[in-house]
Amino acid sequence: MTHHTIALDTLFEAAADVRVRAHAPYSGFFVGAAVVDGEGRIHVGCNVENAAYPEGVCAEAGAISAMVAAGGRHILAVAVVGGPAEGDLVVCPPCGGCRQKIREFARAETTVHLKDAAGAVTSLRLEDLLPISFGPEHL
Ligand code: THU
Repeated sequence: MTHHTIALDTLFEAAADVRVRAHAPYSGFFVGAAVVDGEGRIHVGCNVENAAYPEGVCAEAGAISAMVAAGGRHILAVAVVGGPAEGDLVVCPPCGGCRQKIREFARAETTVHLKDAAGAVTSLRLEDLLPISFGPEHL
């Protein structure tokens, strides 16, 4: 795995672009996620809800699926943006399930970047979002 640097702005732009394609008629909460893989490629996902509510899928899960489908196996960084369809972004921390999904392909220091309505970025390490976690090395 080589080292790549993706500008944070570029990553947030990718997340914001895909967010508008979310299928979120039930919650009205549109989420976009972008992940950088070990080759420096960006993969994106948006939330896809379902009339059978529990079958809905988070934006992060979609981005991870896209990464894996493209052959990526390492997550170097994640950006998430969320908010109502019309209106300001709100800080959108990944749900517990998505933290574990990120965990599968990331390292303790992998950073998850969140943006608020004012454009302020909060950057959190995965080990702080999901402490004492279970991962592939346990098996
Ligand atoms: N959602 C995401 O896609 N990612 C998050 O980080 C938090 C929540 C989605 C799930 C659901 O479609 C909607 O946002 C409201 O919970």
